[in-house]
Amino acid sequence: MRNGGEIGIIGLAVMGQNLALNFARHGFRVCVYNRTPERTEGFLRDRVRDEPIIPAYTLEEFVRCLERPRRILLMVQAGSAVDQVIEALLPLLEPGDLVMDGGNSHYADTERRMQNLAAHGIRFLGVGISGGEKGALLGPSIMPGGSAEAYAMVEHMFIRIAAQSEEGPCCAYMGRGGAGHYVKMVHNAIEYAFMQGIAEAYDFMKTALGMPVEAIAETFERWNEGALNAFLTELAARVLRYRDPESGDPLVERIMDRAEQKGTGRWAAQSALELGVPAPTLTVAVIARTLSYFKTDRERIGAGFPWPDQRLGPFSEGVLADLEAALNLMLLAAFSQGLWLLHEASRVYSYGTDRAEVLRVWRAGCIIRARWLGFLREIVREDPEDPHLLFSARFRAELQQRLPAAGRVLRWAFEAGVPMPALSTAVDYVLSMRRSRLPANLIQAQRDAFGAHTYERIDRPGVFHTEWLD
Ligand SMILES: NC(=O)c1ccc[n+]([C@@H]2O[C@H](COP(=O)([O-])OP(=O)(O)OC[C@H]3O[C@@H](n4cnc5c(N)ncnc54)[C@H](OP(=O)(O)O)[C@@H]3O)[C@@H](O)[C@H]2O)c1
Repeated sequence: MRNGGEIGIIGLAVMGQNLALNFARHGFRVCVYNRTPERTEGFLRDRVRDEPIIPAYTLEEFVRCLERPRRILLMVQAGSAVDQVIEALLPLLEPGDLVMDGGNSHYADTERRMQNLAAHGIRFLGVGISGGEKGALLGPSIMPGGSAEAYAMVEHMFIRIAAQSEEGPCCAYMGRGGAGHYVKMVHNAIEYAFMQGIAEAYDFMKTALGMPVEAIAETFERWNEGALNAFLTELAARVLRYRDPESGDPLVERIMDRAEQKGTGRWAAQSALELGVPAPTLTVAVIARTLSYFKTDRERIGAGFPWPDQRLGPFSEGVLADLEAALNLMLLAAFSQGLWLLHEASRVYSYGTDRAEVLRVWRAGCIIRARWLGFLREIVREDPEDPHLLFSARFRAELQQRLPAAGRVLRWAFEAGVPMPALSTAVDYVLSMRRSRLPANLIQAQRDAFGAHTYERIDRPGVFHTEWLD
């Protein structure tokens, strides 16, 4: 059909509306549909002006409105809603049509949906999209995965609406199967870790150093000028500066300290455990959110658990420089774990993910965009087959120069009773990965002693068992 919609979007909540406007403002004709018609009406009334956006109020009408082969992007709530929409849509589609899921779906669900739809001749892409509300409107980071042929149907459109960085548009093919959603999941896990690290630095400045919120905001602003330049560093400063219109106090101080989560961080931690990839900093960031939730329990325990010294007393700029170094180290450790996880997932699931492209796509538009990404990409490109950033001397040097500072921060934090789970696991991770010999020999000996699990020796080949307790 000529003059029909070049792309259709189902789901007009925050993300769907902004993506529809983004496509339309780049000249693409967009058909839109939402289960609840009032939302579609509201969108047209409040936000659509001259953009080529065509509303549909039934799925039949929506499907008819699209050029063939159809390109349909689902922006509905992740989970069973995606299956329900696909089920309703399927009888209306024709072989060759393309359905894309732009939500935060689990990569295994994406693989399942891809296979089910393939049986009907329908193409399917799992598309990770990052950037939140603003990114969706002005240029998100886009991580599509599935068949390369399916991607070819939308590449020209995604590249236009994506964020643009000096290294090109922030959209690239992430690989086969559920690769797009897997990469987005790892993105979110790094996001959790970075946010946890930032929160720990704020807590340290507030609790250990007694700094007022304004001074903490100023510190993040200064850090944002240097190596820690990143969307989340800048955002932390802006959020800390925001004042509650009613009280005039920093709003952040009035917010309940219970962090929510929607699942992607937990899935990444679960996947890391399943694949046998150590990702302690990514995992602990999820645990820290879970722990924060037990507010009343913490209050009860804390009331009966005094800590001797809450403040470090007068501090020098040197302490803040150490904290900055520690946060950089935490972030590098989180990226190192995330990229190892991506390497292993790509190997096990045959994704064929190019991690240098992943890092390029994360350069702009997404929540974890950061100055470090250019450096990390250079390292991955030096040897794309290396699972570890840690194999690179340049990467190790960046960690090594920051380890003493991170160690000092952890000691001060302990004195002041400030928990720093992301930073401490990052330090543990680096210290463990640099040790050629770990105390796992004793674990092996004990396993053999109580359960005859056998062990290997370092001085001769073979598998051994000892009657330790005779
Ligand atoms: N918000 C963000 O910043 C962000 C960023 C990146 C990715 N994402 C992901 O993008 C997706 C969309 O996010 P969102 O925040 O825009 O919306 P959302 O709150 O996750 O979902 C609401 C949308 O889903 C529709 N929906 C829910 N159940 C449905 C069902 N059974 N059948 C048909 N439609 C159904 C709703 O329609 P009704 O109006 O009829 O209720 C509404 O359009 C999610 O997967 C989310 O995780 C969000």
